[in-house]
Amino acid sequence: MQISIQHKKSLPTDRVGGKRVFVALDYATKEVETILEDGKRIMRVGVGERKDMTRRKLVTLVRRIVRTAKGSHFTEGVLTLPEFYFPKLKLKEEALGFLIAQEAMLADFDFNLFKTKPKEGWRDIEKLIVVDPKRSRAFARGIERGSVVGQGVNEARILANTPGGDMTPEKLAEAAKKFAQGTNIRVTIFGKKELEREKMGAILGVGKGAKAEPRFIIMEYPGGRRGEKPIVLVGKGITFDTGGLNIKPGRSMNDMHMDMSGGAAVMLAVVLAHKLGIKRNVIALIPAAENAVSGDSHRPGDIITSHSGKTIEVLNTDAEGRLVLADALSYAKKFKPKLVVDVATLTSSSIAALGQRASAVLTKDEKLQKLFAELGEESGDYVWPLPLWEEYAEDVKGVFADLANIPTNGAQGGDVISGAMFLLQFAEGYPWVHIDIAPRMTSIPSDYLGKGAAGAPIRLLVRLLEKY
Ligand code: BES
Ligand code: ZN
Ligand code: ZN
Repeated sequence: MQISIQHKKSLPTDRVGGKRVFVALDYATKEVETILEDGKRIMRVGVGERKDMTRRKLVTLVRRIVRTAKGSHFTEGVLTLPEFYFPKLKLKEEALGFLIAQEAMLADFDFNLFKTKPKEGWRDIEKLIVVDPKRSRAFARGIERGSVVGQGVNEARILANTPGGDMTPEKLAEAAKKFAQGTNIRVTIFGKKELEREKMGAILGVGKGAKAEPRFIIMEYPGGRRGEKPIVLVGKGITFDTGGLNIKPGRSMNDMHMDMSGGAAVMLAVVLAHKLGIKRNVIALIPAAENAVSGDSHRPGDIITSHSGKTIEVLNTDAEGRLVLADALSYAKKFKPKLVVDVATLTSSSIAALGQRASAVLTKDEKLQKLFAELGEESGDYVWPLPLWEEYAEDVKGVFADLANIPTNGAQGGDVISGAMFLLQFAEGYPWVHIDIAPRMTSIPSDYLGKGAAGAPIRLLVRLLEKY
């Protein structure tokens, strides 16, 4: 989708040729109506009362316009801007342009890579004209940056949606290299040999059962001053999660090719830091492995030695995310980070707790907890806090090793918290935030997004890099 700005107030429907054109917004009484005007099909979208508009509503409104237009075979459209200046919204012009472009890009995306192209082509909005009679430079800048971020999120959605057979750890590493080409992002890939050298026993343990060997992906973006402490983003890169020998039953294995969504998110966050010229040092660490079933798989009860030196009883091979992240989190320390954020599709328990509208955020630091809630509101990647009290540390202690990857003390439920508590044992020496994005791994119909990966929480991470 190409987004451009037009300053004239008149509806430039003539500008977009003979194609079907939609014009939104308008104060239609109905939710959506299409009418014929001057021989052109015009779509009006009801926005409700102007005074009731919120940032959250605007996110879905922009998406609803684009999705509805797509569904009705429109290929080009015009957004009339004055109606976007909702008096109570208190969005600065740049933020408004950013939101519109970003959400329009997200809504236009569908994962078609493995489908035969229909004769009439994909139903995409090729061109979107946004009318801004105010000629605001800030608004134009927002549109430009928002569409860069929207595109970046869609790139991550492509990685996540790609089936596990096609998106192996090696392929994920290749993607990182490809994104870095022609940029100042430095990519280092550890294969099996380097993983052994670095004593990353947890990543090796999880990856043992698969033919496709694990990788550890390091991306370094030097946007800040030399010597300035970096923000390190760690993303779970399980390219397929069968559960291992504790194999996932029935439909629970569906969608598990997206278990590298956290990895894809941090990868694109670094790429976007470069594309937006963010003046920060940012590093992404992605432990990538396939959690497979074979005679080589590690077994429940096996004890592994992690990169930190701490030993771990693997009591459930399906709690593999926390294992690979353990090695990445202790490796992160060597960069002397000012903040480490890890992003992972870690537990179904987070979905049980929050449903599918917010990711869970867990941290020891109250200020960071508050900051992340704000970043969530501002970016559209909503997050909600859960406790990480000291009492929960009991639930990750091992019987025969230092730690166990599931509770051995009979603790029931709360996997989202014990998962985070486990990670905390490796996140030593720096401020740390954990985001369990399992709730936001896939889109739901009310998101007005294409089916499959939702691309969380890249918008939040970008905002963090800009603000922190
Ligand atoms: N990748 C899954 C979590 C998941 C489930 C993400 C559904 C997205 C949708 C993770 O590796 C897992 O299997 N977690 C277990 C942990 C348990 C064994 C402690 C879970 O949530 O059941
Ligand atoms: Zn699992
Ligand atoms: Zn998993």
